[in-house]
Amino acid sequence: MTDDPAERTPSMTPDIVPTPTPHGADAATGRGPGLATRQIHAGYTPGTPQNTVTVPIYQSVAYEFDDFASARDTFALSRPGNIYSRNGNPTNAVLERRVADLEGGAGALALGSGQAAVAVALLALVAAAGPGPHHFVASNKLYGGTSDLLGDSFADLGIEVTFVDPLDTAAWAAALRESTRGVFLESIGNPVLTVPDLRAIAEIAHAAGVPVVVDNTMATPVLLRPLEHGADIVVHSATKYLGGHGTAIAGVIVDGGTFDFTARPGRWPALTEPSARFGGIVFTDAFDGQDGRTPYLVLARAKSVHDLGPTLAPGSASQILLGIETLELRVRRQTQTALELARFLDGLDEVERVHHPGLAGHPEHELVRRLLPEGIGSVFSFDLAGGPDVVETFIDALELFALVANIGDVRSLVVHPATTTHSRLDAAGRADAGIGLATIRLSIGLEDPDDLRADLAHALQAVTRARAVAAGPATR
Ligand SMILES: Cc1ncc(COP(=O)(O)O)c(C=O)c1O
Repeated sequence: MTDDPAERTPSMTPDIVPTPTPHGADAATGRGPGLATRQIHAGYTPGTPQNTVTVPIYQSVAYEFDDFASARDTFALSRPGNIYSRNGNPTNAVLERRVADLEGGAGALALGSGQAAVAVALLALVAAAGPGPHHFVASNKLYGGTSDLLGDSFADLGIEVTFVDPLDTAAWAAALRESTRGVFLESIGNPVLTVPDLRAIAEIAHAAGVPVVVDNTMATPVLLRPLEHGADIVVHSATKYLGGHGTAIAGVIVDGGTFDFTARPGRWPALTEPSARFGGIVFTDAFDGQDGRTPYLVLARAKSVHDLGPTLAPGSASQILLGIETLELRVRRQTQTALELARFLDGLDEVERVHHPGLAGHPEHELVRRLLPEGIGSVFSFDLAGGPDVVETFIDALELFALVANIGDVRSLVVHPATTTHSRLDAAGRADAGIGLATIRLSIGLEDPDDLRADLAHALQAVTRARAVAAGPATR
């Protein structure tokens, strides 16, 4: 170990300067760097002794403190710095700053999966509230794993969840209780692309003193930034579009830093009253969002992540950072191809209905155009005419689309939600989620759109042939 402080692994990682953007706003126009610039540069300034232009992987479990006082103060949360990689890591810190920047948030927390991001985002609100009862209001159109978490594991913990139709604004208001710790929804519901009126739901929740948590996995900050529409906290499965290449599982929580926990301090005692566990500090006094340390995120990191351990490995953070560098290009191209393919499928005899709000006849077309003027992403669903019997024929006839339970990949993927991603839902839950037995979900990748169209056409022809055979010789 060298004595030169510049060459030691410091507890505050000065080599990774927490600059949110590479350059300040242009003095003449007031315009800062665009998203495509920030997705490559935000949160990292090359400046290590090695001057690596890309973000290094800090493959270290723990960190050496400069001296006794810095160890004591870092543990006491009065000094920012690395302690142990379960709670934070310098590579992960760049990912946190980059995603916070892209979403327009005050700070972020990287986690081992999107599932962990959803769980920790909500459990940190439970932690902030202290002893129960605890209640959430959630959309009934959610990714299946999130439905499992909220409907099953949260029930095991005695945390109640009321599921509402995300398009029924009055239902959100009616479901709120004194014990409600948050409302939770997806900016674009998976898999039938339900787009709730985020602003209206946020106004209802805020009037009741309740924070709004939005899963923005499907939209990505390229197409929608929920914090600009009233959300307080954003979560991502970074496994999907942010990574894009299907190589790493990861999640991120972004805090807008805008929800005022001190407005009703009695509701959030772990944030607004002296903390017995953390040396008597009051989180809302001690943390002002500087360096991404908002009261909510510090509690989530120091308590929820520390206690439960859903840590992101720095190698995976590095994969996600690489993916983010091309996020904007990928999302725009995939979104465009998906809309073209939805238009192709719409109106075909073999297709009963296409769930894509970008189509003019879709009931939410106008709301979606207002909220998502640049498109709705690359995942959409459609119902096969002919019902569940033809699903297997269709899926097995596809050659380019891979049968994979994932979305947001550069490869085009297909899945049958009723028997895979959403198979744990009962018939009523499936109906609430808008999923039929003949619903097929596609996630459109970066292949040539003509090849994808041809693959779909070929599989639909296989369905037509199979139905003709089943109907008998007269109709052939
Ligand atoms: C919208 C959404 N949120 C959260 C998750 C969970 O993410 P992960 O698979 O990274 O745990 C998924 C996974 O499919 C998802 O689609």
